[in-house]
Amino acid sequence: PRAPLVLGIETSCDETGIGIVRGTQLLANTVSSSMEEHVRFGGVIPEIAARAHLEAFRPTLRQALDTAGIELDEVDAIAVTAGPGLAGALMVGLSAAKGLALAAGKPLYGVNHLVAHVGVGLLDPAEHHRPGGIGTAENGTAGNGTAANGTGQSGMRELPQNSGALLVSGGHTEILRVGSLTSDVQLLGSTIDDAAGEAFDKTARLLGLGYPGGPAIDAAAASGDPQAFRFPRGLTLPKFEGSAQTPGKHRHNWSFSGLKTAVARAVEQFEAAGKPVPVADIAASFQEAVVDVITAKAVRAATEHGITTLLLGGGVAANKRLRELLAHRCADAGIELQIPPVSLCTDNGAMVAALGAQLVAAGTAPSSLSIPADSSQP
Ligand code: KG4
Ligand code: ZN
Repeated sequence: PRAPLVLGIETSCDETGIGIVRGTQLLANTVSSSMEEHVRFGGVIPEIAARAHLEAFRPTLRQALDTAGIELDEVDAIAVTAGPGLAGALMVGLSAAKGLALAAGKPLYGVNHLVAHVGVGLLDPAEHHRPGGIGTAENGTAGNGTAANGTGQSGMRELPQNSGALLVSGGHTEILRVGSLTSDVQLLGSTIDDAAGEAFDKTARLLGLGYPGGPAIDAAAASGDPQAFRFPRGLTLPKFEGSAQTPGKHRHNWSFSGLKTAVARAVEQFEAAGKPVPVADIAASFQEAVVDVITAKAVRAATEHGITTLLLGGGVAANKRLRELLAHRCADAGIELQIPPVSLCTDNGAMVAALGAQLVAAGTAPSSLSIPADSSQP
């Protein structure tokens, strides 16, 4: 069978994303962001985001179709984020998807935003970090691919055996065992308070680095000393973690609220003493603490659950230090790491299309045209 041609629609937060894939091949990934309209509020305002989706939808769709060189009636299916996310924002994309599906007579697939962040890892090309010191290869598995990532006869790529995913975004921080993207995703651990991206955003605000904070801290940290401050690594005490044999309740969980408080205290001390705040050093030390505890716990959870291939996803996956330390620790643990390009880590429509193509190829039944937006979908 021919690889399915799928249009993906993403509107769960501030990015209006339209992606088009044929199997695992990316044909278009057009993103329009309303971030600039939210900057002065220091966070995404749901009503503004929903209105911006409404305005951006048609031009973004047109541009994606032109880039892919196709028309809507050629696609095999339309996939759309049904949740989780901002209710009003989700509703714009979902309503649009329903209208297009109905008008063009195409099956509709409502997908989970978080699973889509993982599914994008099956698109070409991703960075593959193989254990054994081979290093980073921009191995797009063009041609025949490899044993672990070969594309099958249908032009679809199989998820490797014993796969897991580390999902780090503005709303979620999760380690998952992924038996199948279409039917078997198990949560191994997650944050019990702030998401990793949220911690970056709040810390950036404390340091006066603006919004969104992740890229700002990433940049500021480049000229700072990551050892200047020893910020806390949450939930790493033995009483939380236990042992591999008798795991504690929070063995595979994270907490970032204490870290945020510690940064606030450090800033206050400099201000109280009338000294300049060493922004770069604090940013670098904060980033080191977050990345250290995320990677340590993720790799341990993966190891203890027999995961041999880890897919990284979510906006925080754009972080340079995270990519570097995770690659290093996965290599040490004998885990193959797959990291999508940055443009596919932050919210986009291609990830929705990629998961949609997997659903079509798996023979999954389409969603009903009355599928609701589910803002708190797990
Ligand atoms: O996945 P995403 O685009 O949206 C959600 O689904 O949440 O993630 C957005 C988050 C924001 O918190 C942003 O600050 C963070 O990803 N982020 C980063 C970087 N780029 C984006 N965090 C750390 N370092 C980065 N380079
Ligand atoms: Zn996201």
